[in-house]
Amino acid sequence: MNRSYPNTRLRRTRAKAWSRAMVRETILTPSDLIWPLFVTEGTGVEDPVASLPGVSRWSVDGVAARAKEAAALGIPCIALFPNTPAAKRSDDGGEALNPDNLMCRAIKAVKDACGEDIGVLTDVALDPYTTHGQDGLVNGAGYVVNDDTVAVLVDQALNQAEAGADIIAPSDMMDGRVHAIRMALEMGGHHNVQIMAYAAKYASAFYGPFRDAVGSGGLLKGDKKTYQMDPANGDEALAEVALDIAEGADSVMVKPGLAYLDIIWRVKQRFEVPVYAYQVSGEYALIEAGAAAGIGDREALLMEKLIAFKRAGCSGVLTYHAPLAARLLGA
Ligand code: PBG
Repeated sequence: MNRSYPNTRLRRTRAKAWSRAMVRETILTPSDLIWPLFVTEGTGVEDPVASLPGVSRWSVDGVAARAKEAAALGIPCIALFPNTPAAKRSDDGGEALNPDNLMCRAIKAVKDACGEDIGVLTDVALDPYTTHGQDGLVNGAGYVVNDDTVAVLVDQALNQAEAGADIIAPSDMMDGRVHAIRMALEMGGHHNVQIMAYAAKYASAFYGPFRDAVGSGGLLKGDKKTYQMDPANGDEALAEVALDIAEGADSVMVKPGLAYLDIIWRVKQRFEVPVYAYQVSGEYALIEAGAAAGIGDREALLMEKLIAFKRAGCSGVLTYHAPLAARLLGA
C-alpha cells in the first residue's frame, strides 16, 4: 500500500470522538480484569497496606464482600494472597497444606457468597508460609531445591482445589511443577480446575509492596534469582511458556507487566493460548506515587497502561486497580 499526503490524512479519522471510537483497534472491558486481594486473620478487619495506598488486607468476611463487589462490577475473577500470621510460618511452609488455612477459608467464603458468579484464582508458592520468605524449600546452602519443592506445591495446589479454587496459578518458577500439578488434579478428579502458569516471571524489583502485604518482605534473605528469570532474557521466556503449555497450562502469565510488553507480544505471536499480564504491586504504587506527585491524572495514567496490555496481546490483566478500572469502564 502506497499512501501519501494529502490523499491520506491520518488526522481525518481522529478529528471527532465518534470517529475515534469507530476506528479504535483495542477495547478494554471489565471482563479483562482480575483483582488480586490480600487476606488476613480476624473478622471485620480492614488493614491498609502502607506501601500500596488504597489497598488493604481484608479478613475472610471482607474478602467475600469484595468478591461480591467485583462480580457486580463485571470483574470475572479474583486472585487471593494470604498474610499468614508469623506463628503459623515455618521453614517448610507446612501451613500451605492445612485444609483450614486462611487461603482455604477465604476460597470457601467467596464461593459461599458468590457461587458461580466469580472465578477464584489461587497462588501456588510457599513464600506466604515460610519463615525465610523464599517460594520453596531451602537446603543448608540456602538454595531453593526444585524437586522436593514441587512435591509440596502439588499438595498445596490440591489443598486449594479441594477448597474450591477454580484456577491454580503456580508463581514459584520451579521446573516441572505444571506437569506435576496437572497430573495430581486429573487424578484427584479436578478435571476442570484450570492452571494459569506464571510462565515468564522475572526476578523483579517491582514486587516490594506485595512482599509487605503478605508479610514476607522483612523475612526474605537474599533474592530469588536462582528461580525467577533474568530481566535481560526474552528467548528464555518463550522456552518457559512452551514448557508450561506442554505440561498442561491452560493459560500463561507474564510478570511484571509494563516493562515486559515485548515478552507478552512475542508469546502471543508464537502460541495459541490466552496470555495474562500481572501489573504488579510496584507498578500500582508507581501510578499512585506519580499521581500524588502531580505528574498526571491517576485514572488516565491507569487506563493508558491497561490498554497497552490489551494492544500487546493480553486476554486480561491482574491489577490492584481492577475495581477503579471497572468503574471507569462502566461509566
Ligand atoms: C509469590 C508472588 C509474588 C508476587 C505474586 N506471587 C512475589 C514474589 O515472587 O516475590 C508479586 C505480585 C506483586 O508484586 O504484585 N511467589
